Amino acid sequence: MMYNTLIIIHNILRWGVLFAGIYAITKAAQGVINKKDFEKADNLSQIIFVIFCHTQLLIGLILYFISPAVDQAFKSGEMMKNAGFRFVAVEHIATMVIAIAFIQVGRTLSKKAANSLSKHKIALRYFAIGMIMILARIPWSKALFPGM
Ligand code: HEM
Repeated sequence: MMYNTLIIIHNILRWGVLFAGIYAITKAAQGVINKKDFEKADNLSQIIFVIFCHTQLLIGLILYFISPAVDQAFKSGEMMKNAGFRFVAVEHIATMVIAIAFIQVGRTLSKKAANSLSKHKIALRYFAIGMIMILARIPWSKALFPGM
């Protein structure tokens, strides 16, 4: 069934987003602190992070329309009153969409920036803000891996 498959992929891909994000942020921080040139590896770390984010966004969007949990939240009539319903149907997706938009803007501005230091600085700021938002609204109470 499509829902079961997508929720498994969405669950696992969270780790891709997190590790790619930590890597890209670490590269940017090192670039700023050590005033390093913006190199191919820096560019690649950003591309990988953005790809994980957009894949997760796409799968999440589909999940939103087919998830029984979201459906239940809408039908309950207390989507905003009940914390569990509000999380799955409102807070998770709203926070993640904004976070990923932040990360994408950071990538674009970093790419366009004139010199290495600004490229690193912009990436560091936007990615860090996006990452904090993501960490804050991952449903950590659910399985850390599918079925676990
Ligand atoms: C970096 C971005 C994201 C991360 C790390 C993330 C992570 C997760 C995790 C770990 C779960 C629990 C999976 C499980 O129950 O096994 C989940 C559920 C869910 N996510 Fe995301 N997510 C992200 C973005 C999004 C976006 C952008 C949307 C929608 C536009 C979305 C929609 C959903 C929905 C609807 C569920 C609940 C499905 C259900 O329980 O039936 N996610 N997400």
